[in-house]
Amino acid sequence: MRLCDKNIQQLLTFTIRMTFRLSNSKLPDVKTTIFTEMSLLAQQENAVNLSQGFPDYQADENLIKYLGNFAKQGYNQYAPLFGIKELREEISRKFNLQYQVDYHPDSEINITAGATQGIFTIISAFVEKGDEVIIFEPAYDCYEPAIILNGGIVKNVKMFYPDYEINWTEVKNLTSEKTKMIIINNPNNPSGKILKQKDINELISIVKDTNIIILSDEVYESITFDEKPHLTLAQYPQLKERTFIAGSFGKLLHITGWKIGYVCAPSDMMKEFRKVHQFNVFCVNTPAQFAIAKYLQNVDNFKTISSFFQRKRDYLKNALQETSFQLLDCEGTYFLSANFGAISDAKDKDFCYWLTKEHKVATIPFSAFYQDKTDEKVIRFCFAKKQETLDKAIEKLLKIKV
Ligand SMILES: Cc1ncc(COP(=O)(O)O)c(C=O)c1O
Repeated sequence: MRLCDKNIQQLLTFTIRMTFRLSNSKLPDVKTTIFTEMSLLAQQENAVNLSQGFPDYQADENLIKYLGNFAKQGYNQYAPLFGIKELREEISRKFNLQYQVDYHPDSEINITAGATQGIFTIISAFVEKGDEVIIFEPAYDCYEPAIILNGGIVKNVKMFYPDYEINWTEVKNLTSEKTKMIIINNPNNPSGKILKQKDINELISIVKDTNIIILSDEVYESITFDEKPHLTLAQYPQLKERTFIAGSFGKLLHITGWKIGYVCAPSDMMKEFRKVHQFNVFCVNTPAQFAIAKYLQNVDNFKTISSFFQRKRDYLKNALQETSFQLLDCEGTYFLSANFGAISDAKDKDFCYWLTKEHKVATIPFSAFYQDKTDEKVIRFCFAKKQETLDKAIEKLLKIKV
């Protein structure tokens, strides 16, 4: 479906009408996400869309075939609350194979409606009024509203251009008996940075002798580059005992629209998670779970994902080196980010609008990932796109004059 001016107008009218009707919003500062905003603008401007994080190519036809087959065979009713056993077993096997980590399929794994629902449910199950939750900015946008809706208090630790390193001294100083949870996103969207052993050691020493729960958003766990390993927090017993891992098949299998993910945690924590999950969504799309479970039986279907995306990253990176963008070191995820300071003095969001309107390439400004809209003139390009799309974008970006 193409969105036209009329659709955009309707969306805005709806938002305005709702604003008038509700005088007491629970999320007064939340607006339409930047991802929706830039995708709408890209459609309106007929621009190449490198903004929102989703592939524009078809998923593997075997996976699609499995989905159809399971639906035809009658797997169309409610799945169990935990998710189907076959899929939980495949997730358990994957953790074991890739990271030599054990999660019991019955008591320690639950299927979710995308990582987003898993994350929301984890926060709802544990964060109470007045609890503090530490998050790292630039931050993916679903953490903060979930914390606020549950009465929690967000404590931000900012990471800055160009290294986006975590300042662990600041984390330590922010931590107190009020700290209920620390949310990690590794590999990080949007910076593309991954945690190193020294970061893990710092985290271990900070949470030691506390009751802090860790939520580790690892939706890009299978996408790391240049032979750099993904260090899942599940690999560290001192962290695993207090950690929820959130994962997403949308990212792993190029099917963001299926909205199937999972969470893993020790059984006592999972028990609490399930109490909320039961009323939050109860269960998740049945034929899609069966299709994914069958597809994961073949390890080749997911073990080459890093090299698949590394080719795309390298292609875009090599091309953009010819431009005046200063590229960040993308160690994981499917986002390559860049500073545009040599091209323009504009604010990053204005620059993204200009780039979409004048050069017909849509991107995402980093300021959208900071509560206070910190602007270091950095934007994010999504390279989970077919070759033709990347070529079109590159052709346009090479024409930018300084
Ligand atoms: C860091 C991060 N976490 C969570 C999600 C949401 O994953 P899902 O689509 O499985 O809900 C995304 C999606 O872009 C993401 O980038």
